[in-house]
Amino acid sequence: MSRPALPDDTELRDRVRDLDLDSKVRLLTGADLWRLPAEPRLGLSAVTMSDGPQGVRGTGDDPDETGLLAPAPSALAAAWDTELAERLGELFATEARRKGVDVVLAPVVNLQRTPVAGRHFEYFSEDPLLTGTLAAAVVRGLQSRGVSACLKHFVANDSETDRTEYRARLDERTLREVYLAPFEQVLAEAAPWSVMAAYSGVDDGTESAPMTEHTRLVREVLKGEWGYDGPVVSDWAATRSTVASAVGGLDLAMPGPEPLWGRPLAEAVRAGEVDEQLVDDKVLRLLRLARRVGRLDEPGQASVPTPPPVPAAPTPEEFRLLREVAARGTVLLRDEADVLPLTADGVRSVALIGPNAVAPYLQGGGSAFVPAVRTVSYEEGLRAALPEDVQLTVHRGGDARLRLPYASAELLTDPGSGATGIRADHLDADGNRVGGEVRATGDWTTYDGFGPAIARVLLRTELTLTQPGTHRLEFGCSGRFSVSVDGEEVLAGEDDRGVELVLESSHNHPPRRGIEIEAGSEGRKLTLVLDLTVVDAGGYGRFVTAQVRHAPPGPTPYEEIAEAVAAAQAADVAVVVVGTNEEVESEGWDRAGLDLPGHQNDLVRKVIAANPRTVVVVNAGAPVLLPWADEAPALLWGWLPGQEAGHALADVLLGRTEPSGRLPWTLPARAEDVPVPDARPRDGIVDYAEGVHVGHRAWDRDGLVPAFPFGHGLGWTRWTYESVTLSPTPVSAASPTGPAGGDGLNLTVALTNTGPRAGREVVQVYLEPPQDGSDRPVRLLAGFATIHAAPGERVTAEVHVPARAFEIWDGETSAWHTPPGRYRLHVGRSSRDPHLTAEVTVDDGRPHQHDRKEPQS
Ligand code: BGC
Repeated sequence: MSRPALPDDTELRDRVRDLDLDSKVRLLTGADLWRLPAEPRLGLSAVTMSDGPQGVRGTGDDPDETGLLAPAPSALAAAWDTELAERLGELFATEARRKGVDVVLAPVVNLQRTPVAGRHFEYFSEDPLLTGTLAAAVVRGLQSRGVSACLKHFVANDSETDRTEYRARLDERTLREVYLAPFEQVLAEAAPWSVMAAYSGVDDGTESAPMTEHTRLVREVLKGEWGYDGPVVSDWAATRSTVASAVGGLDLAMPGPEPLWGRPLAEAVRAGEVDEQLVDDKVLRLLRLARRVGRLDEPGQASVPTPPPVPAAPTPEEFRLLREVAARGTVLLRDEADVLPLTADGVRSVALIGPNAVAPYLQGGGSAFVPAVRTVSYEEGLRAALPEDVQLTVHRGGDARLRLPYASAELLTDPGSGATGIRADHLDADGNRVGGEVRATGDWTTYDGFGPAIARVLLRTELTLTQPGTHRLEFGCSGRFSVSVDGEEVLAGEDDRGVELVLESSHNHPPRRGIEIEAGSEGRKLTLVLDLTVVDAGGYGRFVTAQVRHAPPGPTPYEEIAEAVAAAQAADVAVVVVGTNEEVESEGWDRAGLDLPGHQNDLVRKVIAANPRTVVVVNAGAPVLLPWADEAPALLWGWLPGQEAGHALADVLLGRTEPSGRLPWTLPARAEDVPVPDARPRDGIVDYAEGVHVGHRAWDRDGLVPAFPFGHGLGWTRWTYESVTLSPTPVSAASPTGPAGGDGLNLTVALTNTGPRAGREVVQVYLEPPQDGSDRPVRLLAGFATIHAAPGERVTAEVHVPARAFEIWDGETSAWHTPPGRYRLHVGRSSRDPHLTAEVTVDDGRPHQHDRKEPQS
């Protein structure tokens, strides 16, 4: 356990006692977007926070700051490997220290309740146990190096649509067994030093409130029952009240200064609406956090202890770890024709095809975004790995993006100076010019660049259409604005919301309009004017959004597909990379469906038909439908792989690293089978009507066959499962244990690598409880272990099944209990591929003595 042998609260309480109310309240909301205030009288330095979970973005003080970009969490989850997750947590800690960050706002332990969830890529899994186990490992890694995790978003914030408004309606049992479960597990196993309260709310039948005000779940369960002693931090701009949030258990309102806290909170204390002891408790929690991350002077010491030094810049070892995670998390879904690995022998040419081959989607959008220190495209990775005499050609095969590319800078001219780019005049409220600049880009979205004196930003440019034919233009802006082309208004907006525009991601997904312009045979010049009112987004700053996009006449998608298919036919091997992109997977919105965007299905089908040695790689974080999956000779799920994408894919394709990933979620074959197809609130409510049957549990309940089940992944060797033995440690139902408690069962599984190569196997254990009428899942993931073996080697995997796996939450007694009956434990390669089974009987509330174990076909 990484928590220091602290806190001695007596000493901390003494410090708090000496502070006056206003000074205490000042500490409970941010000094700015990412920092908490310092208080020299307490020996407190500013605690700095930054987003995860794909890396550590930093505070943005340096606009050119870059960082390590890791594979998205669902890619890490696919490795099912706690040791790897812990190492990645350590890397995040090093990166945080490098950037002066004390608290990384990660990991995310919301669940992939619906495959269309916008932040699906940020979540680990649809399964609570897999989520909790891996998140605990990340937290251990971070905190072992003195950097705080911030476990988020507490709780049941599993979708994005109207996220600041909706209430998730779910019963206590579903909360306990599914959505609270990963939070409880991580608290028990890794003791995170901070937790974030979600934007959304929960209606659990006893209390319906936003999570920043949910007394029962925050104060009673999280802090009371589970003994969590750190601060509960609001999600950014999620604080909606003074008294209700202060009483409900929120400790820190971020970003700051939050106008609803500060002075109004002090007044509420003076008016007797908030007990001052609550304020003291919040400060105490803040001090515990500060002490744990080394931002609190200790008595007898002159200053904050200096954390151990970290390398000033990212190192080759760190790049290698990111590459390892991306390669090992890759899931080999299918390899019918033994296409993989592509040994250089006999392969003289490779055609790399697909919209995502040309523009890989490396990370999801939203607050998790990290400007990467470097990126290795698929083309670069393959070119570096293939022998020089192997020909590599690249073909897009049609654009999958709905939006046009940003206008090229060289086509844009400032009408004032003649310089390249778009001219911006900053105007005050009376229309007087108070500043300006010229930028050589069609992407003119700008944060926090405008002081209160700047009310409007007037953008002007001349766009030169050089080629004859039909040009397409597209504009995207948010807030109040108007866009005109040659004096004619083509788009206008009247949205005067402030921070809500940030929270719904309107800045990267703004209202837009496309138009077509004929250039004539001589080409043409257009005058573009974008008149933008600066959006005041509170703690997020003052910003404008303006996108100027342009596509000159070019080949149609059908022509591009035909060209790519011809290249596939001519090459020895075709590698097709299809997937999602920044228009599809992001915080701020949920997807409308599961289809691959654009003409990608058509492209894949035609390439497969053209070349029997085709490898299809899916570059997506969340499920997409693959209607051609049964025809693909080889099929890999390549995730949102982070900065080392190209090296990782080359490692897998050329047989250097085994794609040993297993799906952490179920891949549907048909949209109509999906248990929770959308998460749109109805009358402000997202109804978790499926109860405890989340993800693969619902597929089992409904008896439906997915394209690939939860836990599936082939790797590149074969395994024979030989035996399972149980150590029937008794479990006491009378004194419920934490899920990480020592109680439960231990399984020893013997298996042999009977294939030709060394490989990794994820031994998965699914518990089938008695169907005693209490609506239990058909099977639930109860434990797993990852082992490695040489060809022919026999190994044993030790899998712990916690007592909690047997238990259900009894709403009547408000306690866990283990229903008696016969439980079967299936050991195998996925939720649908059992190889061994053992049974245990629970007759007096304790599982004991297995009475049968049998191999399955
Ligand atoms: C997200 C959080 C994030 C915060 C700060 C919010 O919009 O929901 O996950 O940590 O912004 O960027």
